[in-house]
Amino acid sequence: MIPDETVERVRESADIVGVIGEYVQLKRTGADFRGPCPFHQGTGRNFSVSPKIGRYHCFVCHESGDVFSYLMKRIGVDFVTAVKMVGEKSGIEVIDIPTGRPDEKDAREPLWEVNAAAAEYFSRTLWNEDSGTAARAYIAQRDVSRELADKVGLGYAPREIGLMRGHLNTLGFDDERLIEAGLLHVPEGVTEPRPRFRDRLIFPIYDVSSRVVGFGGRLLGPGEPKYLNSAESPVFSKGKLLYGLNWAKQAARRDERMLVVEGYFDVMRLIGAGVESVVAPMGTALTDEQAKLVRRYTQRVYLLYDSDKAGLKATFRSGDELLAQGASVQVVTLPDGEDPDTFVRTHGARGLETQLASSIDVFERKIQLLERGGWFADLRKKRQALDRLLPTLRATIDPITRALYTSHLERISGITGEVLEAEVRAVTKKHTRSAPFVPQAIREASIRESDTNRRPGRSSNRTTPGSSGRPTEREFVRVLLHRPWLIEKVSERLGPTDILNPLLRNIFRSLINVGSDMGQLVAELDEDSIGILQELHAESAGLDSAETTIQGVFKQINELQVREELEELKNLSVLASADEKTALLQQIVELSALRRAGGGKGWNVGRRSAHAEDEKNTT
Ligand code: UTP
Ligand code: MN
Repeated sequence: MIPDETVERVRESADIVGVIGEYVQLKRTGADFRGPCPFHQGTGRNFSVSPKIGRYHCFVCHESGDVFSYLMKRIGVDFVTAVKMVGEKSGIEVIDIPTGRPDEKDAREPLWEVNAAAAEYFSRTLWNEDSGTAARAYIAQRDVSRELADKVGLGYAPREIGLMRGHLNTLGFDDERLIEAGLLHVPEGVTEPRPRFRDRLIFPIYDVSSRVVGFGGRLLGPGEPKYLNSAESPVFSKGKLLYGLNWAKQAARRDERMLVVEGYFDVMRLIGAGVESVVAPMGTALTDEQAKLVRRYTQRVYLLYDSDKAGLKATFRSGDELLAQGASVQVVTLPDGEDPDTFVRTHGARGLETQLASSIDVFERKIQLLERGGWFADLRKKRQALDRLLPTLRATIDPITRALYTSHLERISGITGEVLEAEVRAVTKKHTRSAPFVPQAIREASIRESDTNRRPGRSSNRTTPGSSGRPTEREFVRVLLHRPWLIEKVSERLGPTDILNPLLRNIFRSLINVGSDMGQLVAELDEDSIGILQELHAESAGLDSAETTIQGVFKQINELQVREELEELKNLSVLASADEKTALLQQIVELSALRRAGGGKGWNVGRRSAHAEDEKNTT
């Protein structure tokens, strides 16, 4: 026995024209291919093969079927062999699982069964029970007809704890199975299992073969979470499923496109309007598996996510996944505040088609947004813009699409195609400065610094009371408390969030805010932080050496920053025009000199005496 999924997969990937073309001379006529019918030995071109729907048909003898039935009828192989033959051609491994008993079931069958029974229960509760009144009103208020609701199998899970369980138990489904399917769960400290979905509108989620594999439940009013989905189970894997695919798969082939929307309601609304080539991932962006699924049915994909920040992020992540599967990806931008559900509700399928017609390519959309944000204005920003675009270029596997993208980017950015192509090939680049750069430098540097402290002759530094001899965060804050003139300079480089210890972080924040005055600090801080503060205040020994150590750390930070900056400039020079190159070169020369001189810019460690004078005056 070959698993259904495999058969489906082979069928999807089959090149029916190629297979039949080995036996029949086929010629393209429009979207189909025609040739003499091998079944009645015809001579006219009455035998038609449609790659779009994956079927053949003879207009004279009326023989018709799919790629498998062709092989079975024409060369007399059995079904399993036919699937294997076709699978081999498209590189899909077909494994024939020996069936012990002829009636042996898929191990997932019990879960599909119980889910189907639950879906029916939810549906009946929605339409026939008093408890479904509010849900019926909700559906009506959202303008969903009974017909549409039934098409997608809408239901309602009542608030009462025992109803669904009792009903399904009576049908012979025991608690164990209900728990495995995720319909019931046993919360900690509770003996009776509870339903996962309570007082929610229920969308059954189907797999590609229309089996119920899980549910999405929506609250009827405000609250969190708005939607609750089934937990992951042997049959429900959110990242591998697409809501609506069972209806969309035929339509996507026919329409030669797939629409990707965000949610259940969007899918349902579009189906209601007669647009069936639509799916929704459950939650966010498409995963690679979902992109593969979509690609099986069509090459052209329209993304209809929200245009808010999260929606755009999902759009571009999904776009990259789809481009990596060789799809062409269009972005549809609906009017502000509209999602496909609300838009189609007011503008209908015709309005939607107009929006699709004015969609723009995902890469162009990305460029458009960057351009509007001024990201191509100067060299540094251009570098960053490019770094955001490169992953998409890299993901694009279709060579023609990639070439188009590259030339478009060339035009917009003024960067030559050669440079762009080299950038695309250079996979791992580290132009982007990692966020924890400075504190990381402190930690790295502090270790090195303490190593040098271990050298003979400097070991006296390590024995200062109240100090471990290493510039830990504690030492760092202690020095600032006693040497307040350093605070301003330090705060140019470090913020409170760079300090990991929460109490020390509080003190550091207060030092930046109010300075080193103990009275003011105490007024600002919580009790625990004050405890530490008082300790630090009392420890006034060994400050000079601690300060020196910290200054050493800063020197290292400077060096790291200069090095990073040099690297950045070199990365920029790749993109620069002749004029820009000259300016950059100048900067590189200056920085290199600075680096050789052993310093950085901005932070000078030798100001102590001047500030010490200030301190004397103020205290
Ligand atoms: P939306 O919040 O955009 O939902 O989430 P929607 O479909 O427009 O819902 P309505 O119109 O307010 O009823 C989009 C999808 O994200 C998932 C669901 O799959 C939802 O359809 N989602 C959303 C969750 O899984 N949990 C949530 O709490 C919210
Ligand atoms: Mn919505």
